[in-house]
Amino acid sequence: MTARTLLLLPGDGIGPEAMAEVRKIIAYMNAERGAGFETDEGLVGGSAYDAHGAAISEGDMKKALAADAVLFGAVGGPKWDAVPYEVRPEAGLLRLRKDLKLFANLRPAICYPALASASSLKPELVEGLDILIVRELTGGVYFGEPKEIIDLGNGQKRGIDTQVYDTYEIERIAGVAFELARTRQNRVCSMEKRNVMKSGVLWNQVVTETHKRSYSDVQLEHMLADAGGMQLVRAPKQFDVIVTDNLFGDMLSDVAAMLTGSLGMLPSASLGAPDAKGQRKALYEPVHGSAPDIAGKGIANPIAMIASFAMCLRYSFNMVADADNLEKAIAEVLDSGIRTGDIMAEGCRKVGTAEMGDAILAAFRKLSA
Ligand code: NAD
Ligand code: IPM
Ligand code: MN
Repeated sequence: MTARTLLLLPGDGIGPEAMAEVRKIIAYMNAERGAGFETDEGLVGGSAYDAHGAAISEGDMKKALAADAVLFGAVGGPKWDAVPYEVRPEAGLLRLRKDLKLFANLRPAICYPALASASSLKPELVEGLDILIVRELTGGVYFGEPKEIIDLGNGQKRGIDTQVYDTYEIERIAGVAFELARTRQNRVCSMEKRNVMKSGVLWNQVVTETHKRSYSDVQLEHMLADAGGMQLVRAPKQFDVIVTDNLFGDMLSDVAAMLTGSLGMLPSASLGAPDAKGQRKALYEPVHGSAPDIAGKGIANPIAMIASFAMCLRYSFNMVADADNLEKAIAEVLDSGIRTGDIMAEGCRKVGTAEMGDAILAAFRKLSA
């Protein structure tokens, strides 16, 4: 069997703590299931800055470009608050997304039945919730030029960010959303702000045309992004697939994450376009950050990281049964009442990061037997 190559970039804060739990699962799959994962490790974020003075080294960028998939923990933290903007920890993640051309960010928000009461919304609003946010990841205001602070010379400065979208960028992300909708409830809601933004007008037009041309079997709805945020907390189950730009997708996916009980639950996949052999570059990461407030304590929830690895099994290696089993293992462990602090509820047993990882691995082993 050809090797499956994985680059692990644990990063900062709780990133390495969560990654340690995925490493255990990989070791088990290699030792007992002959999965043939070949892993390499690199530094990203503050840890890379401390070692190389850059948020990711050229060597690690090369490794990322060569790997079948990248597993990413989290970056950032107060230790690096004062480092120059160009080499801040988050720049490492943005460079990976840009250079690997990972334009499609899939952020599922699924409410596990056992966690309905951990949501900030009433349980009946989130029970059975299963939505997928498809966030454009390599364009928009994150990367548009000019992006600068200029001195106006009169004691004033001007901060400039530029929102830019070209037709092809909107077409390809809309295509991803429509394709995925066909495997789900066949519904897409596109969110922009066409009432104030020219890029929003174009977004709306291109999504509409793409739908008409190739996906008219899918139900399409448009919503202004602010109203979309409101609808997400009013009646989240109305949505199936949401497609939106880079910045709105960032904000709406944090909102969606809390609906599921904790930011510590949400995985994500960032995918590039398929090459001639049908293979695509990919990076998998939790939606949460480095959680400086709980880092180093061994109490972070590793589920978002483990579920990100499940997405990796599904999207990069077509190991669908394993992905299903790993997700089922997470659900079983939650059903059994085991909880990290962020999702703790009355009558449940509170555990740390490693114990949660061990419990999920044990359930996964049983399901895989
Ligand atoms: P955060 O996601 O790190 O934390 C927000 C809150 O959620 C904190 O109270 C934290 O303790 C909690 N939380 C997050 N993940 C958790 C988990 N797995 N288990 C339990 N609790 C969890 O967001 P923030 O505090 O706004 O940002 C901290 C740093 O992380 C910043 O430097 C930010 O830029 C960075 N960040 C990085 C990424 C990434 O690497 N992909 C994403 C978001 C933020
Ligand atoms: C995310 C994060 C990143 C983003 C940061 C860390 C650059 O918030 O992945 O959601 O804004 O995209
Ligand atoms: Mn974010």
